[in-house]
Amino acid sequence: MCGIIGIASSKPVSINIINSLKKLEYRGYDSAGIATLENNFINEKKCSGRVDELEKILFKSPSDGNIGIGHVRWATHGVPNIANAHPHSSESVSVVHNGIIENSDDLKKELEAKGAIFKSDTDTEVITLLITEELKKSQPLKSVFKTIKKLKGSFALGIIFKDFSDFIIGARRGSPLAVGYSSKENYLGSDSYALKSMTNKISYLDDGELCVLSKDNVSFYDSNEKKINKKIHTVSDEKNISDKGDFKNFMSKEIFEQPLTAKNCISEYLDSLKKDINIINFPLDPRNIKKIILIGCGTAFHSCLVAKYWLEELTSLDIEIDIASEFRYRKLKFDSDNLYIFVSQSGETADTAAALDICKKNNVKTCSIVNVIESTIARNSDWVLPIHAGPEIGVASTKAFIGQLIVLYILSLKISFLRGDLDKKIYNQKIKNLENLSNSIKKTLALESNIQLMAKEFLNARGSMFLGRGSSFPIALEGALKLKELSYLHAEGYPAGEMKHGPLALIEEGLPVIVIAPKDKYFEKTLSNMQEVIARGGKIFFITDNKKDSISENIRFGIRVPYLDSLLSPILLAVPLQLLAYHVALLKNCDIDKPRNLAKSVTVE
Ligand code: M6R
Repeated sequence: MCGIIGIASSKPVSINIINSLKKLEYRGYDSAGIATLENNFINEKKCSGRVDELEKILFKSPSDGNIGIGHVRWATHGVPNIANAHPHSSESVSVVHNGIIENSDDLKKELEAKGAIFKSDTDTEVITLLITEELKKSQPLKSVFKTIKKLKGSFALGIIFKDFSDFIIGARRGSPLAVGYSSKENYLGSDSYALKSMTNKISYLDDGELCVLSKDNVSFYDSNEKKINKKIHTVSDEKNISDKGDFKNFMSKEIFEQPLTAKNCISEYLDSLKKDINIINFPLDPRNIKKIILIGCGTAFHSCLVAKYWLEELTSLDIEIDIASEFRYRKLKFDSDNLYIFVSQSGETADTAAALDICKKNNVKTCSIVNVIESTIARNSDWVLPIHAGPEIGVASTKAFIGQLIVLYILSLKISFLRGDLDKKIYNQKIKNLENLSNSIKKTLALESNIQLMAKEFLNARGSMFLGRGSSFPIALEGALKLKELSYLHAEGYPAGEMKHGPLALIEEGLPVIVIAPKDKYFEKTLSNMQEVIARGGKIFFITDNKKDSISENIRFGIRVPYLDSLLSPILLAVPLQLLAYHVALLKNCDIDKPRNLAKSVTVE
C-alpha cells in the first residue's frame, strides 16, 4: 500500500528518499515519485513501475533540494501511470498521500466550479488544490488544518511548500505516520522500518495530529491546533533479519526461518524453569470471560479461525470470529465481560484498526496479537501479545502466520488452564510438546523436494481446490489464499464435508485437489469426501501426518508432516502449503515477494 517518506536536512535528500522508498517497496506499489524544494522551485519526478526507474530518472537529472518528499503508490483512484503517481503538485505546494479521501468527488466538483484544473484521476489531488486555495489566505500550518477539516476518509500526508523552503508538514487520520529524529535532519515515514537506516528514534502521530519538521526541529499539534509533546520510542535494531542473505527472495527466507520464529516466540512465552506459560496482566480475569471474539483479515483471519477450534476444544468459552471489514459494520452487542482479540502482522491494517477503534468506543477490553509492536493496533489495544517473528517483507504472510498461531495456541492453553478447563497433567504435556515444535517445523521443511515435484502438476491446471475438516479447514483456506496470491492460479478452500453442497460440480478430470487430513477425529470422514472427488476425476494431493500410515493408492502424491500433538497439526500442515504456493509461483516466474495488485500493509479500507 502507499508509502510516504519526507526528509528535512542541511544536505541534498533525494538519495536517502530513494533508499527509504526501496524499504517501503515491500508494502506493494505500482508507481513512485519524489519532489524536492530547490530555490523556491518544486522539482517533481515520477514514474510508473519500480523505484529503480525513479532512481534512473534522478541519475540522468539529479535533484538537489535539502527538503523533499517521496512516495510509492498502490492505485486506488485512477490507473497506475505517471499522471496519477504522487507527489501531486501545484504552483505552490506538493503533496504525498496514503489513504482514501471518500468525499473527493464532491470536493473536486466544488474546486472545478471555482476554476481548478485537475491533472490526475486521483483523490489526492483535491488535497493539493485545497491547500493551494487556502495558502492564498493563510500560512501553511493553518492552510493544512483548514484543508483536513474538509476531508472525509483516511490519510497520512507529507506536504512541502514552494515559498517555505525549510519545513515539511505531516498530518495523520487513519493511516499511519511516523516521525524520525537525528542530530542533523528529521524524517517522516509511513513506518519506522523505512527510516531504520537513518534513525531508531521514532514518534508516532495519532489521529488528527500534525507535525512540522525542519532539519533541526519537530513540532507537533493536536486536532485543536495546540502544540503538544510526543513520546520518543527507540525501535529495536533488526537490520540483519531484514536482509535476504543467500535466499532467492524474502519469502523463501521467511519460510525457512520458521523453526527460528517458533523457537523465539515459544521462548518468549514459556518459563523454561517453571515449565509454565508466563502470560500475565490479562485485561479480564480468564475465569470471568464470557466470550472471546477474534478479528483479523486475510491470513490473520485464518489464524483466528484455527484459534476458534483450539479454544472450543480446550475451554468452555463461547468463541466468535469475524473478518475485520465485516465486524466494523455489524450491529453488535458489546459486552464488557467479552475479550476482543485483534490479530495482525503489520498492526496497521485499516479494517482491523477500525474494528479495534469501535471496541474501544464501546469500552470493552481488547488484546492485539501483532508482529510490529510499535504499530497503531498495538498502541491502541489494552493488551499486546507480540509474535516476535522479526520483520516479514514478503507480501505473502508465512512466518507471521506461524507466529500468530503459536501465540494463539499458547494463549488458549493458558486461558483453559486458568479457568480450570484443562487438567494440570495435560497442560504440562502440551507445554512439553510445544518445546518440540521448532524441530518438527524443521523436519517438515525437509519435505521441500517432494513439494517441488507436486508443484509441477499445477502448471497447466485451470484451478485447484483445498479441502480440510476441523482445524484443517482454515489451513485449506490459507493454502488456497497462498496459491492464489503468489501464482495467480484460481484456488478454493472448502470444508471437505461441504463439497457435495455445490463445489463438487467443479471437479473434472485432472483438477488438482489438495486434501489436508491429519489423523484426527475427522480423518475417516475426510477420506470419504476425498473418495467422492476421486470418483469424479479429481487429482488428489494428500497431506497428512505420520501418526499412523495408510495412504491410498488413488492418491497422486502424499506428504506426511511429523505428528506432535493433534492440536499442533494445523501449524505443521500449513508449511507444505506455503512451499507448494512458493514453488508453483517460482515455476510460473511470478514476482514472489511482490505479487501483482497486492500490498503488504493494507492501510486503506
Ligand atoms: O498485517 P495484517 O496481518 O493485518 O494483514 C492482513 C492481510 O492483509 C494479510 O494477512 C494478507 O492476507 C496476506 N498477504 C496473506 O498472505
